Parts: sequence; structure tokens; C-alpha cells
Amino acid sequence: MAKARIAILISGRGSNMAALIYATKQPDCPFEIVLVAANDPEAAGLRLAQAENLPVFAQSHKGMARAEFDKILDTQIRTAQADMIILAGYMRLLSPEFVALWPARILNIHPSLLPRYKGLDTHERALAAGDQIAGCSVHVVTAELDDGEVLAQTEVPVFADDTPDTLASRVLIAEHQTYAPAISAYIRQFKG
Ligand code: GRF
Repeated sequence: MAKARIAILISGRGSNMAALIYATKQPDCPFEIVLVAANDPEAAGLRLAQAENLPVFAQSHKGMARAEFDKILDTQIRTAQADMIILAGYMRLLSPEFVALWPARILNIHPSLLPRYKGLDTHERALAAGDQIAGCSVHVVTAELDDGEVLAQTEVPVFADDTPDTLASRVLIAEHQTYAPAISAYIRQFKG
């Protein structure tokens, strides 16, 4: 079976991207990375993508209308002949026009147990609520923020002395373990 061709969008550190890069080194991984694109040329994750000889595109969105920037992204993604778009710490809302061009073909990982804590500051909010369980979710991207179908979730315990940072590091390990299997299962379902 041909591998699904994925484009990964990042904005920063890129640790989820790194986890996906290393997932593709397994022979039975059903996807390959055909593009890593960033909306910040300084995104730290670009360095690893380049070192791994992956095609990279980086351009700042600053000063551009959202839909205009997304059109540039769309052109890059289509030129790379990607089948799917994987958001990995892409800290920018996608325009509804862009999302409509890729129905059910954009996935995201979010550091909370959705539908709880959509948006930013998820760990602060989980701690403020006194939650004893936190976690991450992989979901389909729709025009609504963090709102599409949830494909996979991993729970992690909250410790009594957690800070947002200590909780974030524990959830991040779960993210790295959750994303590639969830993407793989989604692709296999797509391909029948
Ligand atoms: C992750 O926690 C991800 O869930 C969230 O932003 C963070 C990105 O981390 N959307 P990284 O860039 O993948 O290291």
C-alpha cells in the first residue's frame, strides 16, 4: 500500500514533529513526510527537519491577511503532493477557506482532554479547576477551534504539586506517544 503523504505545520519547538519523523523510520509506518512548513522562519523545529533532509518551507505570516497566507501554504502543500496536513504545535488559526479545501484531511494534537480546555493555557486551566486527570487529544480540524471529531486521547495523572510546566512536560510525553498511532489508524481507516 502506498504511504500517505503528509505535510507537517509547525510554529516552534517541533517536538511532536520530531516524534512523527522518528515514527516514519519504522518500515510499517503508513505515512511519509513530504513537507515541514513553518509560519516562523526562526521555528526551532526547522533545524531537525533540515538535518533529516526533509523538504522545508518557512515564511512569516506577519503583515499578511490570514486567508492570503493560508493560500501560500496551500500552494506549497499541493506542490509537495501531500494527501494530509498534520498540525504539530502550529500556533495559528487556519482560515475557514483553507480548512474547507482539506475536508477531514487536517489533524491536530491538543494538550487537553477535549472537549475540556479548547484554546490556550490548557494546563493552567486544568490545575485551576483542580482536575486530577489531564492529557492530550488528537482530533480532526474543522473551522471551529479544537472542535472536530476526537480520534484518540491519552490521560495522564495530575500531581498535587504540579505547576503548569511540570504538567505540560508529562502531557508532552503522552503527546509524542499518541500522535503517530492515531494518524496511522486514521489513514488505515481512510484507505479501507
Ligand atoms: C504541544 O503541547 C501541542 O499539543 C500544542 O503545542 C505544543 C507544541 O509543542 N499544540 P511542539 O512544538 O510539538 O514541541
